[in-house]
Amino acid sequence: MVDIHCHILPGMDDGADTMETSIQMAEMAIADGVTHVVGTPHSNSEFKFDPELIRRRRDELQAAVGDRLKLATGCDFHLNFENLQDLQHNPHKYTINQKNYLLVEFADFSIPPSIDGTMHQLQLMGLSPIITHPERNAMLRTKPDRMYRWLHQGAYVQVTAQSLTGRFGSAAQHNAEKWLDEDRVHFVASDAHNLKSRPLQLRAAYDVVAERRGEEIAQALFVDNPLAAFEGRPLPYEPEQADPNAKPMKYRKRKRFIFF
Ligand SMILES: [Fe+2]
Repeated sequence: MVDIHCHILPGMDDGADTMETSIQMAEMAIADGVTHVVGTPHSNSEFKFDPELIRRRRDELQAAVGDRLKLATGCDFHLNFENLQDLQHNPHKYTINQKNYLLVEFADFSIPPSIDGTMHQLQLMGLSPIITHPERNAMLRTKPDRMYRWLHQGAYVQVTAQSLTGRFGSAAQHNAEKWLDEDRVHFVASDAHNLKSRPLQLRAAYDVVAERRGEEIAQALFVDNPLAAFEGRPLPYEPEQADPNAKPMKYRKRKRFIFF
């Protein structure tokens, strides 16, 4: 499995505190069946994003774990004004493995109307925004139509593995399941922060998805799609997303899924 969102790199944010913790998180991931991990430190008002240091920590961790786990860097990119300004000049400073997919995190308390234009702008820049864990965001849970519009315009959705196993409460779990059933989810990632409460494990959530939607969809969300994002390729599993303002989905022809 391939994890595109986690806080495994040491001393960068509220994730792993030391290299020792990072190594243990990596061992935990390997034991769980994870082969690729993208370390995605926060970039927000609380945590400064330093790509040089991030790369160095990745290299140190990679050297410590060897080739049993492939490590890349990215960013848990908070959609604020300063970040967006810098992104325009240095898009690959923030993207997954310096390719074209960008994790995008929204504030819990407000998502201003201008964000609709921002999401479009990201795509005009050649980036593919991945909305991180909308099931954990009360604003997106209560007004999902905005997210559906972004999806229709080509954005993607990543849910947190632990939302599917109930760690973030029933509302998050319910929405993760609902969107999973509606083909609105493209990735599941750990968003791991530590060894205990937010571990770097995906297997339990994989089993939930396989049970609910079958092996092929589980393979797409945990392996094929995240590996494509890791390598900067188009997603192999990309169901058509209806325009929430248009006629009901049952009248629309759906794209065929392609699996490797
Ligand atoms: Fe995160």
